[in-house]
Amino acid sequence: MKRIGMLTSGGDCQALNAAMRGVAKTLFNAKEQVEIYGFLDGYQGLIYSRFRLLNYHDFSGILTKGGTFLGSSRTPFKTIREPDAEGLDKVAAMKQTYNKLQLDCLVILGGNGTHKTAHLLSTEGLNVVTLPKTIDNDLWGTDMTFGFQSAVDVATNAIDCIHTTAASHGRVFIVEVMGHKVGWLTLNAGMAGGADIILIPEIPYDLDKVVAKIRERHERGSRFTILAVAEGAISKEDAKLSKKEYRKKLEESKYPSISFEIAEKLTKKSGFDVRVTVPGHTQRGGSPCPYDRVFASRLGSEAGKLILDGSYGFMVGYKNREIVKVPLEEVAGKLKMVDPNASIVQEAKMLGICFGD
Ligand code: F6P
Repeated sequence: MKRIGMLTSGGDCQALNAAMRGVAKTLFNAKEQVEIYGFLDGYQGLIYSRFRLLNYHDFSGILTKGGTFLGSSRTPFKTIREPDAEGLDKVAAMKQTYNKLQLDCLVILGGNGTHKTAHLLSTEGLNVVTLPKTIDNDLWGTDMTFGFQSAVDVATNAIDCIHTTAASHGRVFIVEVMGHKVGWLTLNAGMAGGADIILIPEIPYDLDKVVAKIRERHERGSRFTILAVAEGAISKEDAKLSKKEYRKKLEESKYPSISFEIAEKLTKKSGFDVRVTVPGHTQRGGSPCPYDRVFASRLGSEAGKLILDGSYGFMVGYKNREIVKVPLEEVAGKLKMVDPNASIVQEAKMLGICFGD
């Protein structure tokens, strides 16, 4: 008999359910007897012992469903060692829940923050297998995270829709794309949606270069320009600030997000009619795309296999078109960013896309 605990932590994304289904089906189809306990709302369920014993039917009919049927929450790693409001030691509480249920392993689905805590639990002696979820695709140790391709679809659709209005009205449009501190989503959705300008955190921009690109397009007879701007995009001047100074600047900023700052400054500098569209959390929502359904199912299935083999302390990732197991210590605390010299960036530039650099 194997007793498994499962949880989804951090921001949700598409294909979380598909991944959990992949793990569960693999385990239920194996010869061994299995009990799967689902912890509710991420690490909160593990800390406060809120769980449900799941059966085969819980994993039925969820392949195509967005969100996570277990619920999720953010439990910041930086305060994980601090007692909660009632003085509870959160790490000790998680270990206690694990031991009380006599679990053989925890399956943890999450992104960057989640992996730091997963690694911590692993170093504390718990058996852990993780799966890489996030629309940001910023997890170290895997070329791809599930949720990413679905989010690319949503963000691309937003750019596609804006294209027709931008063309009708001859306007400059900014579509702000999620991605936290990295530009994978913006780069891919921007290219897929035919954006003329793509601004990502890894390539600080110069607004004069952006203005020049828009002018060049207008001189060539194009009535409109589309900018795909990452929520973490940063100007060359701001990139010179220390982290602390930049955080202060953002806290004191009158703009709801970077796109609104860019829009106002662009209008002032050039007189263009600039509008901002923010698809926001729609990028994490809806049904997973077919790629993510297959990808998450494969990762889930491989996680199931690791559990059956008793091989713990790994994230199941994807490298050079192969499913691989990556030690948690290699994943935790590292960010996978877009390399400004990567061929995709160079190819985008050859296509005439401006990065503002
Ligand atoms: O990590 C996924 C993500 O959607 C980021 O792209 C974004 O910066 C962040 O989460 C938003 O977080 P929240 O849902 O807590 O507002």
